Amino acid sequence: MMPRFLALVAITISVLSSIHASAIDMRATDRAALLSFKSGVWGNLSDWGSPQMCNWTGVTCDPRGLVIRLLLSNSNLTGVVSPAIGNLSALETLELHSNQLSGNIPPQLGMLSQLVNLSLDNNTLNGPIPETLGLLKNITYLSLSDNNLNGSIPEAIVCNCSSLSSIDLSNNSLTGEIILSTQCQPLSLNKLILYNNGLTGIIPSSMSNFTSLEWLLLQSNFLGSVLPSKMFNGMSSLKFLYLSNNNFSGDGGGANLEPFLASLVNCTCLEELGLDSNGMRDKIPPTIGNLSSTNLSKLYLYDNKITGTIPHTIGNISSLTDLCIEKNMLEGTIPSEIFQPRQLTRLVLANNQINGEIPKSIGLAQRLNIIHMSYNGLQGTLPDTLSNLTELEYLVLHHNQLSGAIPPGVSCSMILDLCYNKLTGRIPIDLAGPSTLQIYVNLSNNLLEGPLPLEFGNMDKIKALDLSSNKLSAAIPAQIKGCTALEYVNLSRNFLQGALPSSIGSFPTSLHVLDVSLNRLTGTIPLSLQTSPELWFANFSYNNFIGEVSSEGSFANLTADSFLDNPGLCGSILGMAPCRGKHGHFLYIAITVIIAIAAILLAMVCIFYHDLMKICLRLTPPSFQLSSIPTGLVNTIGEKEGDHPRISYRELVDATDGFSEANLIGKGGYGHVYRGVLHGGTVIAVKALHNDYVGEVIAGSFERECRVIRSIRHRNLIRVITACSTPEFKAIVLPFMPNGNLDSLIHGPPGGGKPEGPQHKLDLDMVLSIASNIAEGMAYLHHHAPVKVVHCDLKPSNVLLDGDMTAIVSDFGISKLVINGARDPEMGEASTSVVWLVRPAFDAGDVYSFGVMLLEMISGKRPTDVISEEGHGLHDWAKKRCLEHDLDAIVKCLLLHDSPSVQPFGLPGCEMEAVAVVMELLELGVACSQLAPSMRPDMDDVAHEIACVRDGTWRKYRATDLNAIGQKKFRE
Ligand SMILES: *[C@@H]1O[C@H](CO)[C@@H](O)[C@H](O)[C@H]1NC(C)=O
Ligand SMILES: *[C@@H]1O[C@H](CO)[C@@H](O)[C@H](O)[C@H]1NC(C)=O
Ligand SMILES: *[C@@H]1O[C@H](CO)[C@@H](O)[C@H](O)[C@H]1NC(C)=O
Repeated sequence: MMPRFLALVAITISVLSSIHASAIDMRATDRAALLSFKSGVWGNLSDWGSPQMCNWTGVTCDPRGLVIRLLLSNSNLTGVVSPAIGNLSALETLELHSNQLSGNIPPQLGMLSQLVNLSLDNNTLNGPIPETLGLLKNITYLSLSDNNLNGSIPEAIVCNCSSLSSIDLSNNSLTGEIILSTQCQPLSLNKLILYNNGLTGIIPSSMSNFTSLEWLLLQSNFLGSVLPSKMFNGMSSLKFLYLSNNNFSGDGGGANLEPFLASLVNCTCLEELGLDSNGMRDKIPPTIGNLSSTNLSKLYLYDNKITGTIPHTIGNISSLTDLCIEKNMLEGTIPSEIFQPRQLTRLVLANNQINGEIPKSIGLAQRLNIIHMSYNGLQGTLPDTLSNLTELEYLVLHHNQLSGAIPPGVSCSMILDLCYNKLTGRIPIDLAGPSTLQIYVNLSNNLLEGPLPLEFGNMDKIKALDLSSNKLSAAIPAQIKGCTALEYVNLSRNFLQGALPSSIGSFPTSLHVLDVSLNRLTGTIPLSLQTSPELWFANFSYNNFIGEVSSEGSFANLTADSFLDNPGLCGSILGMAPCRGKHGHFLYIAITVIIAIAAILLAMVCIFYHDLMKICLRLTPPSFQLSSIPTGLVNTIGEKEGDHPRISYRELVDATDGFSEANLIGKGGYGHVYRGVLHGGTVIAVKALHNDYVGEVIAGSFERECRVIRSIRHRNLIRVITACSTPEFKAIVLPFMPNGNLDSLIHGPPGGGKPEGPQHKLDLDMVLSIASNIAEGMAYLHHHAPVKVVHCDLKPSNVLLDGDMTAIVSDFGISKLVINGARDPEMGEASTSVVWLVRPAFDAGDVYSFGVMLLEMISGKRPTDVISEEGHGLHDWAKKRCLEHDLDAIVKCLLLHDSPSVQPFGLPGCEMEAVAVVMELLELGVACSQLAPSMRPDMDDVAHEIACVRDGTWRKYRATDLNAIGQKKFRE
């Protein structure tokens, strides 16, 4: 406490004294401050240094010649923010966002008494948010989002900066409770944005004083547990309230949705309310209809454990556009009033236990764009009023009990998925009319009959067509050649006849998958398929195809399993009957006879032995169908999936018990991680990203992670088993790491509970081996991988531990790909040189993080602990002890290793030797975490040095030259 107080006094004194300085002195001070800033960063500031300071890039002066604005956002700057910036006494605006600045936010920024705007967002700043920012009396806009800041939120910033109207601290690693005194009353505060952090505890009750709030975004933290009930009464301007993805389960507090909603009735401006992903068990109270007093347009309650029925009063909220209550335990029927809000565009009720019919009133909500009600118990026929919905893009009703015919006039422009119902009748011709542009149509596993409409050929945008497991008959129309974008076709398990149209293999975008198995098709297999360049799966089995098939072209990927039971086929594919002129003919007749006899025998066996019957059934070829939207088919990762086993959404649901709470093993910045068991018994970790509303930014990060992760193979880097990506759902499937992550190993499991499973002690050997594993992995990423990758978020919680405690680096989600030459086709030539220029600095950021992590492992202290205890970073803490060769302090520290669940560092027998190893590691940690990026070693050197320490060469080395090394390394 004392040093912090002194710092505040010192800063206050310097603020006061600066008022008396003359303008000339002040200009000189500004100039010196800017030059000091320049010396801390790399980037194009080449005109900085010319006599006219006020002409320098990004600098604006007032008439006295003092700097009032420093605008260097998006300027390719790397390095650190110099504390000297605090000397710019007239500065009003400091914008440094969207650079790659690292290091801490200097507390000296609190001296900028004139500062109005401060934006440091979208950098790689770490360390805590300095409390001194609370001294900024004039600040109105503060954005520190998208960094790696940690520690808790300083109360002074929220409560003392009386002019502040917007605070954005989102996307950082802030932890601890939000502590605000009861007097805290920031009357100007409009926007409080804290999402995607690690905040815990409750929403402090004094927040009810924040009566000017318009945005309160608290989603994706660990806040809980009971929803606040009176907090929002006075917030008449509140527009956006997001509490999603927290712990507001109400556990222990009973039902709490009703008082919470009641407190929002006065918020007449309220537009968006997010309560999803909280494990809430309540019912939706009928009083929800009282929100009709608000402007509510988006209501998110999905991914909870809500029971009961959907109250019909929801229909009173006339401004509603998005109603998302999927993944709950709702039952009963869909109230017809739900379609009253005329602006309703998105209705998502999937994964509940809703039954009854779809109300005819659905036709009233003419703006409906997305209807998603899959995985329920809906019955009856599809209402013909669906044809009124002309703006429909998604109609997703799979896995229900719907029956009857598909009414005419139903059309939707993106995804039509009605699979796994009991629909009958013919496929209506206008389903495929010229007005529709579906990119995905799945009507599989119904009871549809009749021919494929010729009009299907009009669907020139369609990418995937699954009509499998129906009772379709007649020939496949030649008009299918009009579906020029088709990549996936599954017509298996029908009664289709005639020949395959030869145009089927010649779509310009190229077919990837074709399954026509289990039909009555005849004729030859069109040659066009064989020359179709992208075809990687085809199944012609159980038909009556004839003629010769060669193993050339795309058929080289296929085995005889793709051609089973077509007696007239022969060819050079392995396992297939060869064609031998006329002899061939006799041969296949002979083989047919043998197969027929075998089949009869087998059938008899099956009939007689009931158990064997089951095995026979299993012998039918694996059906290859899109079971629902969520399969990997409409794949946005843009990779051929042949390299990885395909896992469908459904299999992931089964493996994780419906993504149950019990299987939740982690919540990351943008997704949840679940433990799961596949049917084969493989234990996996599923990193699932629910992007129902989070949108492009996060989806982009997912794609990047997939791309990065798949191009990399190293024993100390996470290996991806597969990915599941659909427009609705994205997940990466990883091997499950039984020993958790390094953060829990150092500091104990989050929440301070007892770790599960076998306990491991972080002894010196383990520190050495883990450090060595991480260094090897990182050296591979930086210097040896096919695509250069910088991690950008290396920290203990991103280092996983496998069964034998090998450390595995994971979470490349925010990695910035760095090309090696022009190997990555994703990045154009243009960016190559730039990337090369900044590459060492990127690398150096990872080296820095590695250094801090090493120090953290040795000291058992979090970087923030040290700062609050001693006022320095972990780097300074360790450096001080190294320079002083303060072995006693180190040993003491090791023995006092302060995490409750971790044993004191086990020093092996020969203590002095162990201390020397620790010393060596400390020195390495210090060298890696130096402020100046150029002084840090590279990852290859680090890996080499750790290997030396581990293998004992350090002993000889040290004996001869201990002091010299110490001196050399720490001259900064
Ligand atoms: C500084 O800016 C002024 C006004 O824009 C201009 O006349 C002058 O030439 C500039 N000086 C330098 C050294 O660039
Ligand atoms: C940063 O780099 C980009 C090239 O990617 C370049 O267009 C831009 O001018 C640079 N910005 C500055 C301020 O140098
Ligand atoms: C973040 O900064 C990078 C440059 O460092 C920029 O390309 C990117 O667009 C920025 N992102 C946002 C959301 O501003």
